[in-house]
Amino acid sequence: MKPSVILYKALPDSLQQRLDDHFTVTRVNNLSPETVQQHADAFANAVGLLGSSEKVDTALLEKMPNLRATSTISVGYDNFDVDALNARNVLLMHTPTVLTETVADTLMALVLSSARRVVEVAERVKAGEWTKSIGPDWFGIDVHGKTLGIVGMGRIGLALAQRAHFGFNMPILYNARRQHKEAEERFNARHCDLDTVLQEADFVCLILPLTDETHHLIGKAQFEKMKKSAIFINAGRGPVVDENALIEALQNGEIYAAGLDVFEQEPLPASSMLLKLPNVVALPHIGSATHETRYNMAACAVDNLIDALAGKVDKNCVNPQAKP
Ligand code: GLV
Ligand code: GLV
Repeated sequence: MKPSVILYKALPDSLQQRLDDHFTVTRVNNLSPETVQQHADAFANAVGLLGSSEKVDTALLEKMPNLRATSTISVGYDNFDVDALNARNVLLMHTPTVLTETVADTLMALVLSSARRVVEVAERVKAGEWTKSIGPDWFGIDVHGKTLGIVGMGRIGLALAQRAHFGFNMPILYNARRQHKEAEERFNARHCDLDTVLQEADFVCLILPLTDETHHLIGKAQFEKMKKSAIFINAGRGPVVDENALIEALQNGEIYAAGLDVFEQEPLPASSMLLKLPNVVALPHIGSATHETRYNMAACAVDNLIDALAGKVDKNCVNPQAKP
């Protein structure tokens, strides 16, 4: 008999087939208590769990005593209680490499659209406001040659640095726990403390995972350190930023603009003040959302689950020590 797994995200047909070849698959829409109760036997028997975005915590794990591996279709895994997984020897697999270049493209899109006010002026054109040659109230600020600050120099930060250095001739400052030799040698990036990045960068780009240490890392005091002309970009996780402090900084002119792909609450509520500010570009968490990359992430996650349940955890595994 094939091992049982729970799938809580729709997959393209070919990947669904690959999963079916290896496992008896129970498909559900989400991991809510109602869903778990409705499929109690399937959850109780499952050795694997595959999907994205939903919370995987102790309450869920208690309903899944046979679980050996979880596989998320994402690089970020802040929605998993890793300690609880470790305590039960449940492996956690993720997709750290396949989305790197796509997320770096999204960051560059946020940099360009915030600085050149692309979304705002395009909306004005659609609204029929382009009736004579444009004046300074349509102008933005330059990107090329400006100083790019990267907070969190992982794979995505490195791919952003490459674009900024070769494509836009931007000097690069970065803050990270460790010095990043490759970023320094290839892209001339300079390692600095966080305050220096905040004070000197024209663009402050945040690409950090959400952890206890990064929660609200950027707040009132940090926005006060930025230049008045600075543009703040976040494409890591929303709660790394104190959103109320960000709104205040934008309203008070402490920074020039913000480009955001992630928020403290997602989907971003329609009532959010961020949606009322003209100097904010707000995207619906599309960092990795291209047809190609979302397919590759799902394929990677399927392979990760197959590998993990076969005891292969040499790559893409968050907690290889949890191997039973
Ligand atoms: C997207 O945010 C991811 O973690 O893959
Ligand atoms: C990006 O989405 C990350 O979690 O690093």
